[in-house]
Amino acid sequence: MSEVQVRRMTDADVVDAVSVAGAAFQKDLSSQRTRARWEWRLRYVLQTDPQGSFVTEHDGQLVGVAQAIIRERLWILSLLTVSPTLERPGGGDGRALVNAALAYDRDTTAGIIIASNDPKALRLYGSSGFALTPVFEASGKLDASRIPALHPDITEVPPEDFHTLAPISRAVRGAAHGDDLLVALSQGGTVFRLQDRGFVVAIPGRGVWALAALDEQAAIALLWRGLDHVKDDDECEIGFITGAQQWAIDVLLAVRLPFESRGAIAVRGDPGPLTPYIPTPPMA
Ligand SMILES: CC(C)(COP(=O)(O)OP(=O)(O)OC[C@H]1O[C@@H](n2cnc3c(N)ncnc32)[C@H](O)[C@@H]1OP(=O)(O)O)[C@@H](O)C(=O)NCCC(=O)NCCS
Repeated sequence: MSEVQVRRMTDADVVDAVSVAGAAFQKDLSSQRTRARWEWRLRYVLQTDPQGSFVTEHDGQLVGVAQAIIRERLWILSLLTVSPTLERPGGGDGRALVNAALAYDRDTTAGIIIASNDPKALRLYGSSGFALTPVFEASGKLDASRIPALHPDITEVPPEDFHTLAPISRAVRGAAHGDDLLVALSQGGTVFRLQDRGFVVAIPGRGVWALAALDEQAAIALLWRGLDHVKDDDECEIGFITGAQQWAIDVLLAVRLPFESRGAIAVRGDPGPLTPYIPTPPMA
């Protein structure tokens, strides 16, 4: 079997890379808006971490893509996909891309991958020095009548204030989110904070995208706020909830959202307590 060819991704690869990601995740990219959001996300990462984005090609066709980002002392795998239709016999693209992404590093002390349920992905991360913690996903129509009065001190966070949330993210997962929250805004999301105790990001049509807090009471209040923001959706999704987030499980049970086990959080080093925390796949 010939060796897989990995090279750095460029802006000219973004359109094909999005097609590969859409096919790999079985996402419908037929709407211009959905495709534009995906392209925005890949370009954003390509701009913040141009050395961390890689593709594989076979016979001149883009087959796989990986994007890693470095935030302070934290390494994050933002994207890993290989085309289910263009993959070579014998595979190996995923392994080559993960190895390239891991080699993109500078003095990080921790790493996080928000992993899908794909057995190959779990094998790749588990065999690359990451500890795997299984997670739940809640999805469906929530029962809005169960949402209590919202905490009066929760306010919306404008983008120019994202940097003020840094101490919360650092305490929970070892690095600030900063402008990475713009990825949620590009998808129609809103960021809410409860003073300096925590923040939640909710995206109508999608669900609760991310949450980090310094204490569980703040996390619960913020999760209610996030759910209230998406309560009219026919289908909302809150994923990547570890067993340590019992506070979140209790809230999601209260709004009668169905649960299933789906995916994992893969961690190396010591990013922090990772609770109260609901991470987001592209930015952790
Ligand atoms: C996950 C994904 C990127 C893997 O890419 P790939 O090119 O198919 O992966 P590889 O061929 O390199 O195989 C990866 C590993 O899984 C192993 N593997 C192959 N088939 C497997 C199976 N059915 N179950 C478990 N492991 C399997 C391979 O042997 C290899 O391990 P090794 O390097 O130790 O031998 C790709 O399948 C994909 O895009 N999946 C859908 C999107 C997704 O879930 N991405 C991950 C997001 S976190």
